[in-house]
Amino acid sequence: MKLIRSKLAILAIISVAAGPLSADESLPVRNCTWCHGSSAQGFMMAPRLAGQRDQYIGNQLLSFRDHIRDNPLSRQYMWGAAANLSAQTVHDLSAYFSTLPTLPADDGDRQLAAAGRTIYEQGIAESNIVSCLVCHGPNAEGVREIPRLGGLSYSYLKRRLEQWGEGFHAAAGPMPHIASTLSPNEIDALASYLSFVGSASVE
Ligand code: HEC
Ligand code: HEC
Repeated sequence: MKLIRSKLAILAIISVAAGPLSADESLPVRNCTWCHGSSAQGFMMAPRLAGQRDQYIGNQLLSFRDHIRDNPLSRQYMWGAAANLSAQTVHDLSAYFSTLPTLPADDGDRQLAAAGRTIYEQGIAESNIVSCLVCHGPNAEGVREIPRLGGLSYSYLKRRLEQWGEGFHAAAGPMPHIASTLSPNEIDALASYLSFVGSASVE
């Protein structure tokens, strides 16, 4: 943790030196990019926010604030970061981050990508796992409260899918059930595939 903290501190210095993002000066974007990366593409354990769905970001911020999303790193980092955000700031931050262009993380295992794609598109009939595509979209781009998954980092995707199976964030709609039905190999394959999906376009 010490090493991580000092890396985060270094990042903070770098992003200050690089100057503010082109957000409204009154929006506390730097309180977020300090951890999420200066162009919000994700950094270390903090996931990419750039190009994430507006409504999804807003819902997550409220669920951190209300302590519904209780994953270990959420408790450690996001409960504090979201504690004092006004409804207007949640709205404005969500709108801002959702319009930033995305870069794919490209950091999964290439050999697993084809298997991951098959599960993503077709589900697994034998274990009653529905296709992810029906909700998350053909390019894993998400819509409204359903998040964009394409190009998120392998380690973040894997952690999210594992932690639902461990009982964290249990109040979150269809995912606790879906994720807890996936085997470790299936999670690996899905997280690998999705890390390569480069959805550069943000409508
Ligand atoms: C101290 C570091 C830190 C700060 C500051 C921080 N975050 Fe986070 N954020 C994280 C980490 C780590 C996670 C991953 C939580 C998990 O895995 O459960 C996260 C997760 C999130 C998520 C969930 C993304 C997803 O795909 O589900 C959102 C949204 C988010 N942060 C928005 C923000 C906003 C907006 C701010 C500024 C107000 C902010 N964060 C400030 C570290 C931080
Ligand atoms: C019935 C619709 C539905 C299906 C099918 C579905 N999802 Fe989801 N998924 C959601 C919703 C809604 C959320 C947002 C949950 C929340 O608000 O916390 C979500 C969230 C996620 C997240 C969290 C992303 C982030 O940024 O933290 C991951 C990862 C994910 N889903 C992966 C999958 C995978 C892999 C499959 C297929 C095996 C799948 N989903 C199938 C609706 C669905």
